[in-house]
Amino acid sequence: MVRGMRKISEGAEADIFESDIFGIRCILKYRRRKPYIASELDEWLRRQRTRSEARSMGIASSSGVNVPKLLFVNKGSIWMGRADGVTLNEYGHIGNTVLSKIGSSLAKLHNTGVIHGDFTKANIMLGRDGNPCIIDFGLSSQSTSIEEKALDLLLLKRSLSNSEFAISISSYMRDSDNGDEIAKRLKEIEMRGRYQNRSIAMKEEQV
Ligand SMILES: Nc1ncnc2c1ncn2[C@@H]1O[C@H](COP(=O)(O)OP(=O)(O)OP(=O)(O)O)[C@@H](O)[C@H]1O
Ligand SMILES: [Mg+2]
Repeated sequence: MVRGMRKISEGAEADIFESDIFGIRCILKYRRRKPYIASELDEWLRRQRTRSEARSMGIASSSGVNVPKLLFVNKGSIWMGRADGVTLNEYGHIGNTVLSKIGSSLAKLHNTGVIHGDFTKANIMLGRDGNPCIIDFGLSSQSTSIEEKALDLLLLKRSLSNSEFAISISSYMRDSDNGDEIAKRLKEIEMRGRYQNRSIAMKEEQV
């Protein structure tokens, strides 16, 4: 029996409800309908994205990454277990063990061909057990692309301080199957970004 549905978050594409099924605290992620898209296409897109999100969570879980337990998937809805605690955005000091586990989780995801797509503190939850739980696979994909893996790392880097990232990347490098290549690509992407910013600044100066 489903009891006490309570909306806890409203994202760009999905609403998150907290509920209680037979005494177990659950989360429902419901991808909203888009009235400005033809209804058949909308239904197809919601179903595809929901399936892809659930598939990534399933792969992540079987590769040993701590993600919410998948309970039930239907059209635009994913029912999952409730992760303990709060997102790292709402957390104070992040300890070294947690930072190391975060790097390791991302390496495991990448080794198994899952790109998270939004790997930031907002999508990592931490509770009393000290085991970070990776959530929100809404932008994830299944790919072996070095560039996409490096972009996941870049998002994490931007989300953490330099000293925090140093700890996460060292465990990422330890556990990644091809960390050297991905870290090299990360540097290249950052260089490209700096070059583009410099070109924009020079053009603005010329105006
Ligand atoms: N399994 C879960 N357990 C506990 N809280 C959760 C869980 N899933 C989501 N939440 C809460 O809901 C918030 C939003 O969830 P999520 O990040 O999946 O969606 P979103 O960013 O709004 O979605 P999207 O980017 O796909 O539109 C999270 O920041 C977290 O506080
Ligand atoms: Mg999110």
